[in-house]
Amino acid sequence: MTRPLSVAVAGLGTVGAGLLVLLRQNAELIAARAGRPIVVTAVSARDRGRDRGVPLEGLRWYDDPVAMAAEAPADVVVELIGGSAGPARATVEAALGARRPVVTANKALLALHGVALAAQAEAAGVPLAYEAAVAGGIPAIKALREGLAANRIDRVTGILNGTCNYILTCMQAERQGAGREFADVLAEAQKLGYAEADPSFDVDGIDAAHKLAILAALAFGRPVAFEAVHVEGIRGVSALDISLARELGYRIKLLGIAERAEGGIATRVHPCMVPVDHPIAKVDGVFNAVVAEGDFVGRVVLEGRGAGAGPTASAVAADLIDIARGRHTPVWGASTLSAAPAQPMSAHRGAYYLRLMVLDRPGVIADVTGVLRDHGVSLESMIQRGRAPGEAVPVVLTTHDCQESAMRAALQRIVALEAVLEPPALIRIETF
Ligand code: NDP
Ligand code: HSE
Repeated sequence: MTRPLSVAVAGLGTVGAGLLVLLRQNAELIAARAGRPIVVTAVSARDRGRDRGVPLEGLRWYDDPVAMAAEAPADVVVELIGGSAGPARATVEAALGARRPVVTANKALLALHGVALAAQAEAAGVPLAYEAAVAGGIPAIKALREGLAANRIDRVTGILNGTCNYILTCMQAERQGAGREFADVLAEAQKLGYAEADPSFDVDGIDAAHKLAILAALAFGRPVAFEAVHVEGIRGVSALDISLARELGYRIKLLGIAERAEGGIATRVHPCMVPVDHPIAKVDGVFNAVVAEGDFVGRVVLEGRGAGAGPTASAVAADLIDIARGRHTPVWGASTLSAAPAQPMSAHRGAYYLRLMVLDRPGVIADVTGVLRDHGVSLESMIQRGRAPGEAVPVVLTTHDCQESAMRAALQRIVALEAVLEPPALIRIETF
């Protein structure tokens, strides 16, 4: 067997410690598949004294991950610190500057600085690998960049944030009697190591948007463009809407969708109503899914654990095995990237669910539907629940396909109606 691949690991939290465990536990089979052993030789984290549940004896310790990236006696640097700037970015830049291959799970870094980092890696002639950055243990990057490379991809849809899917699944279960609060479930996701260091990145959709920007760059062969992604999170999703969605035959999921549209490439992350019988509606808990539609292959559905130590370490190790084998793919999948325009959200066309709390009195529905008529929004169905003269009742409207700008303009007028008592809930319906 040839010389081992030596690895320096920056960051020994959920994923870093998970990687050390995996590389030790499966050392033999990894060596067989990689053609040589993969051995961690150096590590860096902030607190040297912290018990990480994994022995660190014999490994060279660095307080400074940037110094480690530049100087450690290692073939590859793995960055598992996190964050789009600060030590994570400096570590990756230092490693590439020293012409060392880099493996990272850091989607924020790639979504924001992926163009410059890819240029640096390509100038240095070394791989910058990031399988773990999207959808945890699912080999989504490899699927798009290699397995589906011969296809024109028209659409990629994903459940890309395990924490949000976990929270929505628990809220759904609550409607069935399990009884969990949002804050409780989020705390549990943090404890299980699923959530980002700042969990608002999860619940506000930013983490899913980072991942979608990466998938869109690979799918459409264009430079990664996080700023083009329309982002909404799950804070506004209520138990009432989850229950009404069920009645209408839908499940609510936070989806990331990247597609070719009339005005260019559309990229959006927001809560969606998905028909209950669609495969993505059945993806629950910390599981993620990525659905790609290619012109020759048709629809490909990948599902697996999207977060946590084991699944994420599995994806990091897959990149290390590629590097040990000498496989080197262009960072963004193509040697030249096209600057396809981005379609703004205002040009999106689709169906909507609109839930209002209105005063139960004659003429209110006529006022609301009159506004929708004025903006050319056609109704598909309407439900009014309960009877409470002079008090608040929920009214649910679903629309046929219409343009987002028309729906938004109508909504602005509906909110201003005297009989509308609370900010409305607007959720897009995806029928695929
Ligand atoms: P953690 O917060 O658990 O771990 C971060 C690690 O980085 C800690 O060991 C910390 O040290 C170390 N660190 C922080 N700052 C410094 C510094 N200045 N110098 C040296 N070390 C530092 O994060 P995760 O393991 O959860 O995530 C790591 C990366 O993987 C992130 O980019 C994340 O987005 C990504 N990811 C995470 C997934 C998950 O399920 N957790 C899934 C997919 C991707 P110390 O321990 O001493 O504090
Ligand atoms: N915080 C992320 C999630 C980790 O919940 O999906 C995986 O990238």
